[in-house]
Amino acid sequence: MSASHPSSGRFLTLEGIEGAGKSSQMAMIRTTLEALGYRVVLTREPGGAPIAERVRQVLLDPDNQGMAADAELLLVFAARAEHLAKTIRPALARGDWVVCDRFTDATYAYQGGGRGLDPARVGLLETFVQGELRPDLTLLFDLPVDLGLARAGRRSAPDRFEGETRRFFDGARANYLARAQAEPGRMRLIDASAPLEAVSQAVAAVIHAFARQQRTV
Ligand code: TMP
Repeated sequence: MSASHPSSGRFLTLEGIEGAGKSSQMAMIRTTLEALGYRVVLTREPGGAPIAERVRQVLLDPDNQGMAADAELLLVFAARAEHLAKTIRPALARGDWVVCDRFTDATYAYQGGGRGLDPARVGLLETFVQGELRPDLTLLFDLPVDLGLARAGRRSAPDRFEGETRRFFDGARANYLARAQAEPGRMRLIDASAPLEAVSQAVAAVIHAFARQQRTV
């Protein structure tokens, strides 16, 4: 793989429905990669840059109930365009690794699988906003919807997405799983219903194997 992006080999994303425990794995992934001598930028979507974080507030605000699905889709990609310009592309160009809590797989899962938008429209915006840039490795933290929602509910008051119906999350999870099946090289399934220690070990194993593979290409 070439050292320049779009295919940098250093762009990692974490995906999964609410309560999957992605965020708590971020620090461990950073430590693992830094121990191998890499510089790492941890970031998230929606957000990851000042203006994109403001768009995030609009997207998550429970007062914005009833937002048109197309408006939601466009806001997600507006935030992504800003995030790519200000954070992700500069970091990859510097030679850093980027570990991002959610990216465009979440748009396919939530706006596609959850809201029922045509995935072809997501694909159009993906190409428009990202050009050829795609994640090099994606960890999908999978767990039953009930367990995920119960975990997320213990954490904080529900945001606009967490207040969605069970059917919405079933659609999102099914979409994630279908994508993982279609792209087994890029997307690795992690059983997020396992105890934390087992999840951390599974994640560390995937990261080590991936980093080793990057050194030999
Ligand atoms: P989180 O960062 O707290 O996990 O939540 C962000 C929420 O935004 C989550 O419910 C999923 C949602 N989301 C989308 O609907 N589409 C997207 O493209 C992204 C990145 C997130």
